[in-house]
Amino acid sequence: MSKITVIGTGYVGLVTGACFADLGNSVMCLDIDQKRIDGLHKGIMPIFEPGLEEIVERAYRAKRIDFTTDYPTALKAAEYVFIAVGTPSGDNGEADMQYVESAVKKIAETIDHSFILVDKSTVPVGTGDWIAKMLQDRFADSGIKFSIVSNPEFLREGTAISDFMRPDRVVLGSTDRAASNKIAELYESLRCPILITDIRTAEMIKYASNAFLAAKISFINEIANICDRVGANVIDVATGMGLDSRIGPKFLNAGIGWGGSCFPKDVKALVHIAQEYGTQPQLLQAVIEINKYQRKYVVHKLEEILGDLKGKRIGILGLAFKPDTDDMRESPAADIIKYLDQKGANISAYDPAAMELSKAILPKQVTLCENPYQVIEGADALLLATEWNEFKQLDFEKIYQLMHGHVILDGRNLWDPQNLTDLGFHYYGIGLGQYN
Ligand code: UGA
Repeated sequence: MSKITVIGTGYVGLVTGACFADLGNSVMCLDIDQKRIDGLHKGIMPIFEPGLEEIVERAYRAKRIDFTTDYPTALKAAEYVFIAVGTPSGDNGEADMQYVESAVKKIAETIDHSFILVDKSTVPVGTGDWIAKMLQDRFADSGIKFSIVSNPEFLREGTAISDFMRPDRVVLGSTDRAASNKIAELYESLRCPILITDIRTAEMIKYASNAFLAAKISFINEIANICDRVGANVIDVATGMGLDSRIGPKFLNAGIGWGGSCFPKDVKALVHIAQEYGTQPQLLQAVIEINKYQRKYVVHKLEEILGDLKGKRIGILGLAFKPDTDDMRESPAADIIKYLDQKGANISAYDPAAMELSKAILPKQVTLCENPYQVIEGADALLLATEWNEFKQLDFEKIYQLMHGHVILDGRNLWDPQNLTDLGFHYYGIGLGQYN
């Protein structure tokens, strides 16, 4: 049992804290947001993440996890202090480091014993060294020893618990091998490969991994758009490519593009880092541009099918940037709705989890519905934007009756084209050969 403090109770911090507590450690989670901490004491999760509530509840009852806003309480006797605060995009795409800086300063002011600081926030390469400098100034001649380990996270929203408990790998970077070994012990029971590197390399692995995954998606989306023109089927193309073990089948689902709180910010931040160091990240820039274009491509496609979109009724299924989350950050659906709105379309939309968060983001004139069938009533076209499970087996005969036109644009290639064509729909996918 180790004593762990986690600073930040967002996706990364809370999942990390809860999972370490579930593994038997004593965990203290700190957040500066009093409302969040009050809620956590009452069992209210600040984020939507399947399975998280149960783990937190179990650990809280067993007194293995607690929550506070107070740094002295949080750091008392902490052996390992994890930083898991946000690093949102700054004005020029750079990572905004204000929350990391303020957490490090607070730790420096408060802690009165030796510790290992573990950085889980996604931070520019060189941040570990910058933190070390800040702490060195504070702890010189104090007798307090510290080490810094970079431990990037690879958690996906919606599957964060299993990503933590069954990771493909754990990456640890430090100038202090003994410190990395200590953190490795925390992950030992997960029985996964543990890669120990220097600190800048670990920081880079995080950005490179997210940028590569985003590139894989932008790549297949570009191929899909070509498929649309030449009459090939991108699903089969991806399968054919993915069977090559050098390529692999994952993250080759063509669609309306990638969003969320990570890929957009991290690819931009990596471009910024590259430029700062005087290199030209041409591929990374293209990855971003293709992703922006993909959202417009969907709207062009609808225009090609329906003609002028002014006054046309478009029903949108799915708003969150992906299924199993209510996260609307950089959601492709939000941009597509904005473009459709600018073209004068009448839009109605439904999402199983993101309705509340959508209200603040979407144009006021969008009608937010209570179920998928309301969205479809009288619609000229239906656009699937997020592939939620509950959309997989809709009653399409009912949908046919409810719709005014019978155009379906399946932005995630979720449905069976033949099935829907047989029912009388004009079905279109993204890069689906004869169904374009
Ligand atoms: C991503 C990474 O997958 C995690 O490993 C990483 O830890 C996390 O960012 C982070 O940096 O914190 P996440 O943002 O939760 O996780 O979402 P993903 O499941 O990776 O999906 C990202 C976007 O790509 C979504 O919009 C999704 O719809 C899209 N996507 C994904 C596709 O369009 N096609 C695919 O084949 C896969």
